[in-house]
Amino acid sequence: MQSLIILGRQPELGLAELESLYGAAKVRPIANVAAIVDVDPCLLAFNRLGGAVKFGKVLTTLETNSLDAISNFLVKAAPEHSQAMPPGKMHLGISAYGYNLAPKHVQQLGLKLKRAIRVTGRSVRVAANKEAALSSAQVIHGQLSGSNGWELLLIKDGASSVIGQTIAVQDIDAYSHRDRNRPARDAKVGMLPPKLAQIIINLSAGLLPPEVTASNCDVATGVEPPKTHFKDQLLLDPFCGSGVILQEAAIMGYDCMGSDISPRMIEYSQTNLEWLRSWTKSPLQPEVQTTMIQGDATSFKWPDQPTLIAAETNLGRPFSSIPTAKQLDSVKLECDQIVRSFLHNLGKQIKSGTRLCLAIPAWQTAGGHLVHLPLLDSIEVIGYNRVSFHHSRDEQLIYSRPGQIVARELLVLSKV
Ligand SMILES: C[S@@+](CC[C@H](N)C(=O)[O-])C[C@H]1O[C@@H](n2cnc3c(N)ncnc32)[C@H](O)[C@@H]1O
Repeated sequence: MQSLIILGRQPELGLAELESLYGAAKVRPIANVAAIVDVDPCLLAFNRLGGAVKFGKVLTTLETNSLDAISNFLVKAAPEHSQAMPPGKMHLGISAYGYNLAPKHVQQLGLKLKRAIRVTGRSVRVAANKEAALSSAQVIHGQLSGSNGWELLLIKDGASSVIGQTIAVQDIDAYSHRDRNRPARDAKVGMLPPKLAQIIINLSAGLLPPEVTASNCDVATGVEPPKTHFKDQLLLDPFCGSGVILQEAAIMGYDCMGSDISPRMIEYSQTNLEWLRSWTKSPLQPEVQTTMIQGDATSFKWPDQPTLIAAETNLGRPFSSIPTAKQLDSVKLECDQIVRSFLHNLGKQIKSGTRLCLAIPAWQTAGGHLVHLPLLDSIEVIGYNRVSFHHSRDEQLIYSRPGQIVARELLVLSKV
């Protein structure tokens, strides 16, 4: 059986992270909103995917795009499916992607299925479609991914339709708790969203070893997957700030080493990691090691050799309006110099083939184009190769929110 992923706000980021972890050949994008991954759903590491909002399994593919034809098929299939569920009220929801359907038409399909299922004697509640697709919050609160839930995912795939069923949705409350309730936060250093931190780590991690995917087998049953510990890997964040990447990497099961030029930031990271460990139900494997040391990334000699590097580098000053050419030049050169010197320094301390993902700044200009760090043109000269992806172009790997001047460009490199 194949996994089905509904991608987040910037689908290219979600596609690149899937490709990084599972390989391009196993990922098939659909309609710029979703991807079929040729991995059994019970083996897919959904919890670590920052760019995926829903996770499901493919039920079937229909050679049609017509809602009537899809509806006829589902009306026949739904009663049998409902019989296989535990007794009790059934929670039904329909999410349609890529058809340009009005929410009321999707809702009508839900009501048709409800009538077909009620004939078997079972009571059914249908989630209200405010949009053609239900939100993650609706799936959670409407119990649509529970044992008596059934959220059907209909995705337009050219002239065909992929029909899937949701298994889990992104745990929005858990992300928000890890983000907002951390004891040490600093708005000036910038707030890296935990989902983006996961994407950065996944882009640097590359293909997942098979034993890790196997340990996620319980996801499909709704049981907490066992916590992972990658015993022979060490993740370095040399610009760790308040520690969002370290937090997310430690939860994934990586031993982590964080360093930062600022002693205050080292304290912040330590406080935040201790907080994460102190939860009654900590998401961290107790064996996972986390160390933080003060050091200037452009000259520091790290005590241990990292096997992967994930970082959000210095982004320069935050701009609330488009900077002048002079302001932009000065911040660009300052940021460029730090990242360049860091790459030189790191290059002497890691093995050939070691992967990095760096979130570096890129600036929005009045003309509507982006200004990049100049070092992008001399990656090879510095001793690295740029890792490109098959399903997302390099220039699409840029995280930004509407109205934001400083965007984060995700640069994936491999040491020559
Ligand atoms: C954008 S912040 C990273 C924020 C971080 N992702 C977090 O979770 O808070 C960049 C960090 O780089 C640090 N920094 C700036 N120049 C540095 C240098 N030369 N070496 C090491 N750290 C540096 C800053 O102190 C700051 O904490």
